[in-house]
Amino acid sequence: MTKAVVIDGKAIASSVLQQVKTASVDLVTAKDITPGLAVVIVGNDPASHAYVAAKSKMAKECGFASSQFTLTEGTTQSELAELIENLNDDPKVHGILVQLPLPPHLDSEMIIQSILPQKDVDGLNISNAGKLAVGDLRTGILPCTPAGAMVLISEIHGLDLSGLRAVVVGRSNLFGKPMGQLLLAANATVTMAHSRTKDLRSICCEADIVIAAVGRPEMIKGDWLKQGATVIDVGINRVQAPELGDGRTRLVGDVSFNEAKNVVGAVTPVPGGVGPMTIAMLMANTLTAAYRAAGLSFKLVHAK
Ligand code: GUN
Repeated sequence: MTKAVVIDGKAIASSVLQQVKTASVDLVTAKDITPGLAVVIVGNDPASHAYVAAKSKMAKECGFASSQFTLTEGTTQSELAELIENLNDDPKVHGILVQLPLPPHLDSEMIIQSILPQKDVDGLNISNAGKLAVGDLRTGILPCTPAGAMVLISEIHGLDLSGLRAVVVGRSNLFGKPMGQLLLAANATVTMAHSRTKDLRSICCEADIVIAAVGRPEMIKGDWLKQGATVIDVGINRVQAPELGDGRTRLVGDVSFNEAKNVVGAVTPVPGGVGPMTIAMLMANTLTAAYRAAGLSFKLVHAK
């Protein structure tokens, strides 16, 4: 039985954040510019509030000027559009993040596309998504979670994935599509699987790298995975945990961690895998945006 490496997302995120903090101080010293991040949340979803609180807190820890806009569930499209317009016009704001999902009466796509591409630290604007689609990984902004997942993969395989087969399970604009493009840019042979894919198990079984982002608790079992594979679990699912006591819950991923760790070579835990990387990459993107606004450039140094 192999003993899988448990990829420590917290530790890797912390090394990214260290670089961000140092570069943030450098920007203040050199240009008297403090990176500014505006985080917008609409409505009452408790999980979204928890994510946004973590993002705002981390921005402060990185030395950024962080502002949070907490809007009520009943906010109208034009009120939200006006806020984005004001943030677009504010030179102190280098990054704008609108937490998704928005309440169903709001048109998220219209809001995302109204963010200036150079302030779109989520990398979801058509301009940024288009640059990634044509293989320009330099001048746009990459979506945080896929970029973070790539850092974790590079810890195991380095930056060149030539000869490796990767399967992405999930095809969202927020994660699956950009993840597939980043893997392709790193020379992996990529399969995009999704809810309509037939025989997902046999596709996963052939993969050297499995990336799961389906939002279904522990759907991917140990016997779906190849010996020695690398597994990146993007799922964050809250499930009942009666073993912890009455009414208690816990977080699990889209992969059965306990089964996977006896089969694969490396696996990310949930929590403590991809999650911390998303926040770290958001900080790196905000810093990149602030550096570019100052006519400078910032580049993360990869561990490998
Ligand atoms: N909701 C879940 N993940 C994300 C993310 O990476 N960015 C935004 N804006 N909303 C999210």
